[in-house]
Amino acid sequence: MSRPLLQIALDDQNTPDAISSLIALGDVVDIIEIGTILYLQEGKAAVEVIRAMYPQKRILADTKCADAGKTVAQNCKDAGATCMTVICSATIQTMVAAKQAIGEVQVELYGNWTFDDAQLWMDNGIDQVVYHQSRDALLAGKTWTDEDLNKINQLIRMGFKVSVTGGLDVTSIERFKGLDVYAFIAGQSLREAESPKAAAIAFKDEINRVFA
Ligand code: 5RP
Repeated sequence: MSRPLLQIALDDQNTPDAISSLIALGDVVDIIEIGTILYLQEGKAAVEVIRAMYPQKRILADTKCADAGKTVAQNCKDAGATCMTVICSATIQTMVAAKQAIGEVQVELYGNWTFDDAQLWMDNGIDQVVYHQSRDALLAGKTWTDEDLNKINQLIRMGFKVSVTGGLDVTSIERFKGLDVYAFIAGQSLREAESPKAAAIAFKDEINRVFA
């Protein structure tokens, strides 16, 4: 079992706020995500600025792309992203076109997807997914359940690299012990911590402890 990566989700409202969030902890995290909120607000300019700040880092554009996969992916790549997301309801053609353009694509699992869908993605070379508790579902009181963990396990057994996200903080990691999680994605618990750097280090230490 490999050690899960740590991804910061920059769901800031504008690029200066994202830069402030990032300066504190950019060196600690493995992957920098231009969050959906930031991408919708600032577009590729946000990717370009953060790429200039961190020339060597993996940068994911959380576009949750539903169509025009090739064009959106090429735009993200030109701006400096190494990976982007597509929504699970996009057609397989959109997913494949995006992957061909940028190289790495993750399918965001929201709503009504099935394991037959997942097999189709895998059969077409799309082997990364994000298992997501939506922000709005969390606000409405939903939490991580055994059913979620069983689905994550099934996806891993199918061969997917599975990232998990949605309301995670350092105390959440233990819940995923024994699962070959690819990356933990955290936004608010890192950005809004009193010391974002200390919070990111604590996250990494906990990942190292649980997945030793
Ligand atoms: C929302 C997202 C978030 O970036 C991601 O889930 C992080 O969420 P949180 O702030 O709860 O850690 O993709 O669409």
